[in-house]
Amino acid sequence: MRMVDIIEKKKHGEELTKEEIHQVIAGFVSGDVPEYQMSAFMMVIYFKGMTPHEIANLTLEMIHSGDTLDLGKIEGIKVDKHSTGGVGDKTSLAVGPMVAACGVPVAKMSGRGLGHTGGTLDKLESIPGLAISVSEDQFVNQVNTIKLAIVGQTKELDPADKKMYALRDVTGTVDSIPLIASSIMSKKIAAGADAILLDVKYGDGAFMKNVDDARVLAKTMIEIGKHLGRDTRATISNMNQPLGNAIGNSLEVIEAINTLNGQGPEDFTELCFEEGETMLLMAKAAKTREEAHAMLKDAIDSKRALRTFKEMVEAQGGDGSYVEHPEKFPRARFVTEIDSPETGYVKNLEALNLGLVSMKLGGGRRKVDDAIDHQVGLVLHKKVGDPVHEGDSLASVYSNVPLSDALKQDVLDAYAFSKEPVEKPKLIEETLG
Ligand code: URA
Repeated sequence: MRMVDIIEKKKHGEELTKEEIHQVIAGFVSGDVPEYQMSAFMMVIYFKGMTPHEIANLTLEMIHSGDTLDLGKIEGIKVDKHSTGGVGDKTSLAVGPMVAACGVPVAKMSGRGLGHTGGTLDKLESIPGLAISVSEDQFVNQVNTIKLAIVGQTKELDPADKKMYALRDVTGTVDSIPLIASSIMSKKIAAGADAILLDVKYGDGAFMKNVDDARVLAKTMIEIGKHLGRDTRATISNMNQPLGNAIGNSLEVIEAINTLNGQGPEDFTELCFEEGETMLLMAKAAKTREEAHAMLKDAIDSKRALRTFKEMVEAQGGDGSYVEHPEKFPRARFVTEIDSPETGYVKNLEALNLGLVSMKLGGGRRKVDDAIDHQVGLVLHKKVGDPVHEGDSLASVYSNVPLSDALKQDVLDAYAFSKEPVEKPKLIEETLG
């Protein structure tokens, strides 16, 4: 069928066959389908949606557009986790070692940050010497020996997603649930996961602005998992305010290390346990959530989780002494306190704008090839529901040039206050699947 006929068919609400979807994706990757037709195709999906069959077939085609990783040489059930992205989200850095310290292999391929959201690889690279690009053999050996590796892609995985995402970015088709779901699931499956835990975030700092859309996205991905034989579950969590207190690369690594020492912020620790428990259940290392919780707590209390993180850092060439002595991380030249203009309670804290402040300080990228500054960012001292007095520090801002009045104002503007007490927002909505 001609590409224009496939677009027309979808435009009239008819279901596309596996062969038609193959023709679109294979044609786009080879260059036979031009960008203008692919743009029209994705826009038609944006408006018409896709059936579960179509989404599963689209995901399969994307998986097979490039290399796939065979993690068969790693013993045990490999559970991968993926977050749809947010501000202050350093969960993999703490959950990975917690789960690995319970004997479950964590073979994780992570990505870089873009815009207001940070990326796990950028955070890890704030540890001196740590390499995120390792050979496939080293990746497999490392997971077999210490149970944990967090690296960049070792092969050309999912080129269809790369090409499609670049086009979605400039054609207003990023926020289409079938396209997001197939993009995420194709990458995870191509990277060899047996089972997949998704952290689907909603709110100001997330792709999905409300909990209902997040639930639809989560269910769509769980459905893809069912079609393609991968146990897939999803935690739906609130990203209206940043996760934890630290935003920015080395600041977030320090917070993850504190959490592995049992001294993490309450909200972040809660999410790490929820996700860690689900991963242990999926890997069949625990029978109940309570048992999984106790295993993870023991991994922290005994410092096994911290040791596992240090072993991973050293196996990837990094300086493990930073894990034992996080005070060694070089500090940004300037630390500016942002004082509260009011007495009362924090009513709102805009994750998106704080993520943008961190990016503008140099901690994130506007464009894929921007360099980043690992030292800069923010540490929040007051979050939603906290009481404040006028003059209390709301946040410390770490910068390598004196903080501009405009950025200081941006941080202040991200806060809203109330005279009346404010309830702390619920972080975890539910875990589905
Ligand atoms: N993350 C992805 O990997 N793909 C999307 O489309 C959106 C978020």
